[in-house]
Amino acid sequence: MPQPCLYDRVGGLVFFEQLAARFYAGVVTDAVLRPMYPADDALAPAVRRLALFLVQYWGGPTTYLEERGHPRLRARHAPYVIGTRERERWLHHMRAAIDASAAGPAERQELHAYMTLAADAMINTETASDPSQGAGL
Ligand code: HEM
Repeated sequence: MPQPCLYDRVGGLVFFEQLAARFYAGVVTDAVLRPMYPADDALAPAVRRLALFLVQYWGGPTTYLEERGHPRLRARHAPYVIGTRERERWLHHMRAAIDASAAGPAERQELHAYMTLAADAMINTETASDPSQGAGL
């Protein structure tokens, strides 16, 4: 018997709703990321978009596709300048959200590995994102 998909193993929709909510609770405290994201009163839809994307990716219902179309995540992130600094901050909050979840060790490891690769893939600028850290540039 093949094992159930990760979506089912972690408990389905509620797990990803809580993960996305926890992630965004970190984002709103982050000086680097906060300005990139929607204002407070528009955050709930953003939480939903992230949760539904992850649900779909991990084998759950394809509501994201129905509501938003094909993910095309690289293209959707093109308006934002994402360098190593943004990647680090994003991963920091996502890792904390995963670690605070009730996922078992195997699922946790899968989630961490995927998020790391996905965050690497979202980098879209070669420039040092903090010029003050550059070599006098
Ligand atoms: C690496 C650093 C990243 C930064 C700085 C970043 C930033 C953002 C920002 C500012 C938004 C707009 C918020 C909204 O209105 O929905 C967004 C949307 C989104 N991000 Fe990221 N993101 C990053 C990585 C990722 C990764 C790795 C994933 C997937 C695992 C992801 C998945 C999404 C999704 C699904 C949306 C909503 C897309 C839509 O349907 O419009 N992001 N991101």
